Amino acid sequence: MPIHPAEPFRIKSVEPIKLVSKEERIQAMKNAGYNLFAVPAEDVYIDLLTDSGTGAMSQNQWAAIMQGDESYAGARSYYRLKAVMEKIFGFKYFVPTHQGRAAENILASIMIKPGTYVPSNMHFDTTDANIRAQGGSPENLVIDDAFDIEKYVPFKGNMDLVKLEQFINEKGVENIPFGAITITNNAGGGQPISLENIKAVSKIYRKYKIPFFIDSCRFAENCYFIKMREKGYASHTPLEIAQEIFSYADGAWMSAKKDAIVNIGGFLALNDEKLFQEVSNALILREGFPTYGGLAGRDLEALATGLFEGLEEDYLAYRINQTAYVAEKIKEIGIPIIEPPGGHAIYIDAGTMLPHIPQSEFPGQALTAALYLVGGIRGVEIGSVMFAHPDPETGEMVYPKLELVRLAIPRRVYTQSHMDYVVNVLKKIYEQRVSFRGYKLTYSPDLLRHFTARFKPL
Ligand code: F0G
Repeated sequence: MPIHPAEPFRIKSVEPIKLVSKEERIQAMKNAGYNLFAVPAEDVYIDLLTDSGTGAMSQNQWAAIMQGDESYAGARSYYRLKAVMEKIFGFKYFVPTHQGRAAENILASIMIKPGTYVPSNMHFDTTDANIRAQGGSPENLVIDDAFDIEKYVPFKGNMDLVKLEQFINEKGVENIPFGAITITNNAGGGQPISLENIKAVSKIYRKYKIPFFIDSCRFAENCYFIKMREKGYASHTPLEIAQEIFSYADGAWMSAKKDAIVNIGGFLALNDEKLFQEVSNALILREGFPTYGGLAGRDLEALATGLFEGLEEDYLAYRINQTAYVAEKIKEIGIPIIEPPGGHAIYIDAGTMLPHIPQSEFPGQALTAALYLVGGIRGVEIGSVMFAHPDPETGEMVYPKLELVRLAIPRRVYTQSHMDYVVNVLKKIYEQRVSFRGYKLTYSPDLLRHFTARFKPL
């Protein structure tokens, strides 16, 4: 029997949530064109849309907020964050940004020229879009096992080293402004990358003198997986593992809304002095002066405190095992998920769960709609709504390999009974699965359509 870890905190401030009536849920979905992004959050009972910016801050983070120094330049809060950055990441320079994609945008706009390539294990969609926006081509070179959803592989986010070296030789070093890796691999199921693989990736990038950047949103969760699964790291602290990881890179960016457990924030960190000067100038244009980026002094304080809290071992043990608990319970029902479960989310294989709904009728959309209509739960479709597109030459629809629904778990927010409720709703849906129907698009913009598309039930 799966065991839910007891929370390593108690609750002293509460936010009421409510399951609105079935009639209200039906009406909310009609108003939203059956797109969960358009449903008001107040009408959602358990919100698993994302783990980004949705975590609960600690008493120490709220206390730190009161100590925020709001000076325009050289605020005390900046120096506090700088000391934390040096301790964990160890890069020579960093700038705060308002969130992860702002850091990606600045890095991409400086480094990427049209016709160049950026390899990674898998780029997250904002990274992908920022590279394309500069005329570059993002390339995903994760190991093939990443696509075998039921196979247990301890580090399913690893880069395929053979593919990476072949790719560099084929495209030419001069056409690769930087290389990346995403830890954990959000686009591929929240899967971790081993230290051995990070070290080997670094060795390849360094051999070809390609600057190596880490997308480190969920670095602390990745550190915990290394501690649990990789030989030689059981007695290391997550902080020590983080220090080793970043010692192999030339820079990193982070959406701090994940593992730093803040509601807003991010950074771009690096070692190259000339690049730092260019980054600072771009930052001044878009985000703000380099000692605050797009953030208030109080945000820098919450971030400085949260970066260490995200690395605490009892917190990480609770966090990773909460996700594993939900995954085990869902599997017991018979619902297929990506295995092993990642750190921050469970990815349900809706295509296999609802085989009577063809890809053209969006099985993932059908499952997200069912989760809300049956139980007021909000997840996100990661399937044909997000990725299907017409082939530019033939005009024929190209469908993604998998029709997934992601249930992302906010940090320190929901208790075991909330998680059991989610499992019970899924059980109800599973029992009635043949009764669910697909959906038809009634409005679909050309780019990033999942945010604003509208549907009709079939
Ligand atoms: N990189 C990764 C791996 C991410 O997961 C995200 C955001 C970003 C970059 C961009 O950061 O949102 O602060 O601008 N992921 C969120 C999610 C949105 O729901 O997975 P951001």
